[in-house]
Amino acid sequence: MNILVIGSGGREHGLCWAIAKSPQCDRLICAPGNGGIAEVADCMAVDISDHQAVIDLCKANEVDFVVVGPEVPLVAGLADDLIAAGIKTFGPSAAAAQLEGSKGFTKDLCAKHNIPTAAYARFSSGEPAKAYVRKQSAPLVIKADGLAAGKGVVIAQSLDEACATVDEIFGGAFGEAGAEVVVEDFLVGEEASFFALVDGKNTLALATAQDHKQVGDGDTGPNTGGMGAYSPAPVMTEELCQRTMDEIILPTVAAMAEAGTPFRGVLFAGLMITDKGPELIEYNVRFGDPECQVMMMRLRDDLVTLLLASAEGQLDHVSARWIDDVALTVVMAAKGYPGSYEKNTEIGGLADAGAGDDVEIFHAGTARSDTGACLATGGRVLNVTGIGATVAEAQAKAYAAVDKVDWPGGFCRRDIGWRAVAREKA
Ligand code: AMP
Ligand code: GLY
Repeated sequence: MNILVIGSGGREHGLCWAIAKSPQCDRLICAPGNGGIAEVADCMAVDISDHQAVIDLCKANEVDFVVVGPEVPLVAGLADDLIAAGIKTFGPSAAAAQLEGSKGFTKDLCAKHNIPTAAYARFSSGEPAKAYVRKQSAPLVIKADGLAAGKGVVIAQSLDEACATVDEIFGGAFGEAGAEVVVEDFLVGEEASFFALVDGKNTLALATAQDHKQVGDGDTGPNTGGMGAYSPAPVMTEELCQRTMDEIILPTVAAMAEAGTPFRGVLFAGLMITDKGPELIEYNVRFGDPECQVMMMRLRDDLVTLLLASAEGQLDHVSARWIDDVALTVVMAAKGYPGSYEKNTEIGGLADAGAGDDVEIFHAGTARSDTGACLATGGRVLNVTGIGATVAEAQAKAYAAVDKVDWPGGFCRRDIGWRAVAREKA
């Protein structure tokens, strides 16, 4: 069949890399794609916010199945419009994508169904929010309700900072996403990511991963989209995975179906493992970036079968098997990221760095120049990924490859996996 992947990041390169290996895939198209995806798919420039243009592209290329990578088109209803046009699509409806599109929506759902999460309150104006803040104790977490590319969350260390953040959000710091604010208690513990496929009714647990959100070594500096990840996450024991399914994922899937907005797609639970067990920090309604890339390295089964089963309500007929090895990815970013950075710097050494069975380099913000050179076009640019029997081994392979990349305009964290490596040594 002909398959179209929507998106242009490292996550979409990971998805395209796995889909291209499937015997079910005749032709793979990615819109708009990037410099690395172009090696496994036909990249087509289309404005993905123009849903009719995406439908036209599908019709013109006889696309049988669309896989939507990022959250923005899902929240905007791209899956609804494709399905209404008769095109089979992986990814939730706009109504179900509210699980990521509105933090307040998810908090209310958790409260109604006793799903463990931080205590909270929702506000649509500043004064009541600040009056609530004044009755709490620091640290407090202040969140813009809507999509803010991972930037709409502030951990306020004092009540003054919390109030100032409330004012900033209602002052328009996050635009539309800040029309509402959620104030949450601060959860203490270790974070982990848990992924499950859902087909509206049935749920299939996938795998776990751990991300590194902050830009600097030792988890310092501002938050980013993610500077590296590994899978599986050692903190997620079998017991904790089971509890996550029973206490968080399954009640959510049941609640969404009951509300008449069944969830279909991948449900990505950001968890805090507190001394009470797993608590939900947030939901995402798509694969994590860069968590997806490490999961794809470990997946033994055909990704197309799994994604189709989610779209067709057949998840009770499939299973997902994973290799036991650890996959670890190091994000190489343009110097200056997550602040401003230079574009179109040239990257060399990729063929050498990516050689070998245990290494894969996924591209995020790259493009090919007219002469075929690889140019950095975004903030997060490459995901240099290694696989090995232990986290330490996967880490060593990833960094050996990083060191072969010739990119003076880039940088990376040097400690991806530190928490899991310390656990292995203990
Ligand atoms: P989110 O975008 O909701 O995942 O939040 C971004 C990051 O902020 C999370 O990955 C956590 O590190 C942190 N965070 C969010 N909510 C909380 C909370 N209630 N307690 C502690 N940390 C949090
Ligand atoms: N890496 C975190 C995310 O995809 O939201």
